[in-house]
Amino acid sequence: MKLITAIIRETQLNQVHEELIHAEIERITVSRVSGHGRQKREEIYRGQVVVPSLIPKIKIEIAVNDAFVDQTIDAIIRGAKTEGDNVGDGKIFVTNLEQCIRIRTSEKGSEAI
Ligand SMILES: Nc1ncnc2c1ncn2[C@@H]1O[C@H](COP(=O)(O)OP(=O)(O)OP(=O)(O)O)[C@@H](O)[C@H]1O
Ligand SMILES: [Mg+2]
Repeated sequence: MKLITAIIRETQLNQVHEELIHAEIERITVSRVSGHGRQKREEIYRGQVVVPSLIPKIKIEIAVNDAFVDQTIDAIIRGAKTEGDNVGDGKIFVTNLEQCIRIRTSEKGSEAI
């Protein structure tokens, strides 16, 4: 099992969500966060040039079985990438997930995910 964490633009949330649903990835946690990447070039946020400072972003967390990792990543990229070559489109982190337990049934592991 893997935990896929993606940091994306606020503006891309609906598109990413739609792509995930199309890819049959239906379990998701979404949070509002702020952060910055390497800000070598200035980034545009709501029409303003923003120099290194914390920018509102969306964090998406999805726990999946190993067989679903690639399609999840592909769906996130399809939804999150903006046209052209723009800094600030976001990043995806993949980490090993030790355990998952469905509270209602006490099922564990890939059954529970
Ligand atoms: N190494 C990192 N650790 C933690 N969070 C990060 C890291 N890199 C990026 N992020 C988060 O992802 C958001 C988007 O990052 P961003 O797309 O600007 O990455 P980048 O490495 O600067 O790439 P780019 O050159 O495309 O802008 C940041 O605002 C931050 O919240
Ligand atoms: Mg950046």
